[in-house]
Amino acid sequence: MNSPVMQGLNLNTPAYVKNAKLIAWVAEMAALCKPANIYWCDGSQEEYDRLCAELVAAGTFKKLNPAKRANSYLACSDPSDVARVEDRTYICSAQKENAGPTNNWMEPAQMRATLNPLFDGCMAGRTMYVVPFSMGPLGSHISHIGIELTDSAYVAVNQKIMTRMGKAVFDVLGTQGEFVPCMHTVGAPLAAGQKDTTSWPCNPTTKYIVHFPETREIWSYGSGYGGNALLGKKCFALRIASNMGKEQGWLAEHMLILGVTNPQGKKYHIAAAFPSACGKTNFSMLVPPKAFEGWSVTTIGDDIAWVKPHTDGKMVAINPEAGYFGVAPGTNMKTNPNCMLSLHKDVIFTNVALTDDGDVWWEGMEKDTGKLPDHLIDWQGKDWTPQIAKETGAKAAHPNARFTVAAANNPALDPAWDDAAGVPIDAFMFGGRRSTTVPLVTEARSWTEGVYMAATMGSETTAAAFGAQGVVRRDPFAMLPFCGYNMSDYFQHWLDTGEKAQVQAQAAGHKLPAMYCVNWFRKGEDGSFVWPGYGDNMRVLKWMIDRLEGNATGEETMFGVAPTYAEITWTGLDFSAEQFKAVTSIDKAAWQAEFKLHDEHFAQLAFHLPKALLDTKAALEARLAA
Ligand code: GTP
Ligand code: SPV
Ligand code: MN
Repeated sequence: MNSPVMQGLNLNTPAYVKNAKLIAWVAEMAALCKPANIYWCDGSQEEYDRLCAELVAAGTFKKLNPAKRANSYLACSDPSDVARVEDRTYICSAQKENAGPTNNWMEPAQMRATLNPLFDGCMAGRTMYVVPFSMGPLGSHISHIGIELTDSAYVAVNQKIMTRMGKAVFDVLGTQGEFVPCMHTVGAPLAAGQKDTTSWPCNPTTKYIVHFPETREIWSYGSGYGGNALLGKKCFALRIASNMGKEQGWLAEHMLILGVTNPQGKKYHIAAAFPSACGKTNFSMLVPPKAFEGWSVTTIGDDIAWVKPHTDGKMVAINPEAGYFGVAPGTNMKTNPNCMLSLHKDVIFTNVALTDDGDVWWEGMEKDTGKLPDHLIDWQGKDWTPQIAKETGAKAAHPNARFTVAAANNPALDPAWDDAAGVPIDAFMFGGRRSTTVPLVTEARSWTEGVYMAATMGSETTAAAFGAQGVVRRDPFAMLPFCGYNMSDYFQHWLDTGEKAQVQAQAAGHKLPAMYCVNWFRKGEDGSFVWPGYGDNMRVLKWMIDRLEGNATGEETMFGVAPTYAEITWTGLDFSAEQFKAVTSIDKAAWQAEFKLHDEHFAQLAFHLPKALLDTKAALEARLAA
């Protein structure tokens, strides 16, 4: 393939790139963005090391002490660019009602007219990296390819960890293959001869994270952080993929996937949807308490699941990602040992603190060492001491500080994590962060009741999304910021998928996945969590498996089937029947108020809201009244 030269700019197209559509698109985007150079990523280790060295030279990365964290780096972002920007995220479907009431929408032509001048010359003075990636195992029938054009080397190296990135993607793409075009710029063009004045270029005032579902395009402007910039993740694997799934009959979900094996060697697979920063990474790497000898939990994915119903009614899931972009604060050897053990080498840390000996630190690590460090450089480059923290409340690490690490680093990685065939799901879990009202665990009595539980899920907001914290917001299926189409149509898609699978499963002689509503976050009068959580969540997981096996009867509650105190394995934990009641009780007044909130939620989603959900609500309210 020849390499067209545009306006004096060489496309540098490697000979192995043979997809005419791709080459034409890169040429068109280069003409628009006007970068100083174009660089095609091959995904090699040599390339990764070189780009990291360039990031060190640019001041974006600090190389950590190799004796402490081998081949690892710390990046600290601009304080204005620390999380996803939901209020700047758009679903630009042709029809407004297809974006639905929970998404920002702009008419596609108007959005293009808005973006075009912003992207015109946006990469001036910078390199445009062509980042080829596969979501899902390379070449698998369930995988999808994306090409991200970005002016951020930070994004390119993160994508190597988070996705299957590199040259082999072009082989899969061939001459005719389809790809999702993902445009990304930090929105900070440089004038001729101008050098960056900051180590984290971004646009402090203008940000757009835009999806065109019909044409399956992503355009991201102004941010270099996380889901705003690593476009394979939320933009592609959730917002665009949820549209693909609706059309093609599968589900793209904000779910971890884990394997759990009992002492007899029988293995189950669970997919769980918890909102951002509500414990997916933790749960996916769970280490069972000592009392659970012979049990093991293995990770398939920590954030995203693509669930494909088979003709035998089984629902099979893959993790489309290849790494974890996980929350650092709160992670320690007690809350998530497997995660800590994953972080010894080949990690990119973003917005954590730097220790005096060139290591990283974040809030929660003091639980492992028994003391706070005497001195740190915090994520904003300022001195931090325990005294300063006490006086000012300054956090050493930003609450949404993250690590980027390859799945391969995880000691609990499931052998099937990379299997293109996926794993069969035995149960779905849905859980938000609720200090009151929602019990520890209940099992839905039907698929529809499970969809109701998921559709009405609420969570107290966290630092993963910009905005007020600690306020309950409805986060249906943990997909509020990630569903790429009308939320009520998404509910209907879940109902339809279940209905179809039910018939097929019955014919094949097995059951649909069970559905559970969970809440690890109930608080006592003193404001502290009542449930110990983390590894002890195994006790809940075990009860679910007992249910699947028909070994626990549970008891009927208004909101599904709950465990009795006696059905939970308590060995090694001092947890009284009274404490159990504090995390499982269903308070009538609280639920009457809760159902009012469900009303408001459903009123907002009235367009196309499945009637089955209103019927389910009426049935639950009747149970509550009885
Ligand atoms: P995203 O990556 O943002 O999608 O989030 P995630 O769901 O993977 O979040 P993660 O596992 O990183 O959760 C981090 C937060 O949840 C931290 O504040 C943890 O301390 C808290 N957390 C996780 N599991 C538990 C638990 O069982 N109990 C309690 N109380 N907190 C938990
Ligand atoms: C989330 O916010 O749910 C994340 C982090 O997993 S990000 O990739 O930034 O969206
Ligand atoms: Mn997430």
